[in-house]
Amino acid sequence: MDIKAQLLQVKTDFESDLENTENLQLLNEIRVKYLGKKGVITSVLKSLGSLSVEERKEVGLIANQIKDFIEESLKVKEEKLKAKELEEKLKREYLDVTLPHSWHSIGYSHPVIATLNEITSIFVSMGFSVESGPEVESEDYNFTMLNIPPHHPARDMQDTFYLNNGMVLRTHTSPVQIRTMLKKKPPIAMVAPGRVYRKDLDPTHSPMFHQIEGLVVDRDVTFRDLKGVLKIFLETIFGKDIPIRFRPSYFPFTEPSAEVDIGCTVCKGVGCKVCKETGWLEILGCGMVDPEVFKAVNIDPQEYSGFAFGLGIERIAMLRYQITDIRLLFNNDMRFLSQFEGIG
Ligand code: DAH
Repeated sequence: MDIKAQLLQVKTDFESDLENTENLQLLNEIRVKYLGKKGVITSVLKSLGSLSVEERKEVGLIANQIKDFIEESLKVKEEKLKAKELEEKLKREYLDVTLPHSWHSIGYSHPVIATLNEITSIFVSMGFSVESGPEVESEDYNFTMLNIPPHHPARDMQDTFYLNNGMVLRTHTSPVQIRTMLKKKPPIAMVAPGRVYRKDLDPTHSPMFHQIEGLVVDRDVTFRDLKGVLKIFLETIFGKDIPIRFRPSYFPFTEPSAEVDIGCTVCKGVGCKVCKETGWLEILGCGMVDPEVFKAVNIDPQEYSGFAFGLGIERIAMLRYQITDIRLLFNNDMRFLSQFEGIG
């Protein structure tokens, strides 16, 4: 075959190759096959040397025309394939922005934790520090140093979880009073929020629940200071008009001791099931720190006085949100919990 015929064959071959090319990668292979350094056209052009001047001119012209044709055709095909690929990509990745999207909640506090945090921050705003202690506690800290002697009913096996190693699950947050007084010198104003444990289970008692403890120790601290601080606290939580009363009571670690009641938030004092027809709700225990407790932590009761208080968080949360069964707080049923989105 002479060179001219060869060239025309090249053109025909190229056209059919191009026809069968469906993607950019194949197109590139074709480009190399025809126009590359070792490509068909290059080798034809190289062989021009063996021709006469006349022939060379003629064949060179044809060869260049075919080369231009190939280049141009490749360009056109490339555009086409790019457009096609883009179209396919758009089809594949089509996003219907009008579809309703699924909302993911970012989460929110559990009603008990929200209440605990709110109560803590009220005391923090009055200058109290926040202290903590372990939930596995020694009998000394949980009982003895709080003036609860070995045979006191509070130590009864029925109330306290005793562990094999002689420790207990703390039954209240009061041991944090002891820990703080051993660690810090007066003046002290602290609260200790946390989990506590008792062998108890009914609609208003759970074996694990939360308390917050408060302690103030300084020179000349009086019962009036106690009343003032608790009044501010209760009015902040339950509203300015909440009726408050201090009722004499007994705790081993305070003397004198009191329990604080608020007017029933359900019946407004008229009498109902929640307040057992009394019109009052017990909210917390408190009193002046017993000198025996001061002695246990080497604080001189002649020089210092103090007050303490403790309250259960679940009870406050239940009253505020009108929850009648404490177990609802711990079942983790989202139908219940989702009602508290946005409270804290
Ligand atoms: N620790 C008591 C309890 O769990 C509550 C309490 C009462 C704490 C009087 C106190 C207090 O600090 O002064 O029932």
